[in-house]
Amino acid sequence: MDSSNKMSTLERGSSKHPNDETIISFENVDYSHPNGTAALKHVSLSVSRGELVAILGTNGAGKSTLVRHINALLKPTHGRVAVFGTDTKETTSATLSRKVGIVFQNANNQLFSDSVRSEIQFGLKNFGFSQALIDERTRWALDTFGLQQYADRPPMELSGGEKKRLCNALVLAWEPEILILDEPTVGQDSEQKEKLIEMIRTLQNQSRTVIVVTHDVEFIWPLQPRTVLMTAGKIIADGSAAEVFGSVEKMKEASVLLPQLVELFNSMRIAQYPANVFQAADQISQLAIGGT
Ligand SMILES: Nc1ncnc2c1ncn2[C@@H]1O[C@H](COP(=O)(O)OP(=O)(O)OP(=O)(O)O)[C@@H](O)[C@H]1O
Ligand SMILES: [Mg+2]
Repeated sequence: MDSSNKMSTLERGSSKHPNDETIISFENVDYSHPNGTAALKHVSLSVSRGELVAILGTNGAGKSTLVRHINALLKPTHGRVAVFGTDTKETTSATLSRKVGIVFQNANNQLFSDSVRSEIQFGLKNFGFSQALIDERTRWALDTFGLQQYADRPPMELSGGEKKRLCNALVLAWEPEILILDEPTVGQDSEQKEKLIEMIRTLQNQSRTVIVVTHDVEFIWPLQPRTVLMTAGKIIADGSAAEVFGSVEKMKEASVLLPQLVELFNSMRIAQYPANVFQAADQISQLAIGGT
């Protein structure tokens, strides 16, 4: 596939419509961790309300560092981050967290309560939900994520996958306008992954903005997100899933595996990638009919 023309549009971030309402904007952001590690270099990115954005790339590329800027947990060393029009240097993560929910990569950084139930209720109480709504959302979170049987247990006694599940549940419980999931599928079985997909689709239908940091290409590919590739603190590609995953060189540079359907269609020299096996079957049967 000829990707030479695609590069420049990919690097510019072609998928964003100029009239969309921007709710997250990074303008030439640099960030160095306190030990001097330069984790973000000249990062510019805008995200519109209702977008689904996947951020992929090498270990240490700066993905987690980037998303922590969106709820003001980290603030740029140089440049500007604005969320809902407010410069994050003028606000706090406590103020933003009602609207910007983040599930951390490491569940142990998110959990501190003495039971699963109180962990879920903590945010809801903090944000001033009524007792009736707290009860309703807690029940929803426990049921949806299959945590009812653990409700009275200390979160630290859960397995790794269960802890991650609890973190996904507790943030989804307060329905933030912007949901950030940092490696949501780590340790998750197929049933939990399907639930996550369903939930992301529901949030999309509600025009909520969802940002997913992931190495799990088979999970994210069917959702066909706007895709941002990072390596060494920089964004190296930004475009539709088909554009970015179709750019073999950029994918290699960012050390991201191709989804199997993309591999298959590349090997058949078909650049129109199916989002799932059902579309693939349709496309292949059309080819078979056309070929007879
Ligand atoms: N708390 C910290 N203090 C110092 N350096 C850090 C800290 N957290 C991350 N770094 C460094 O910043 C860079 C970016 O790290 P980050 O966690 O953002 O990467 P990532 O893209 O999320 O990687 P991964 O795919 O492994 O999760 C790395 O070089 C990392 O070693
Ligand atoms: Mg990370």
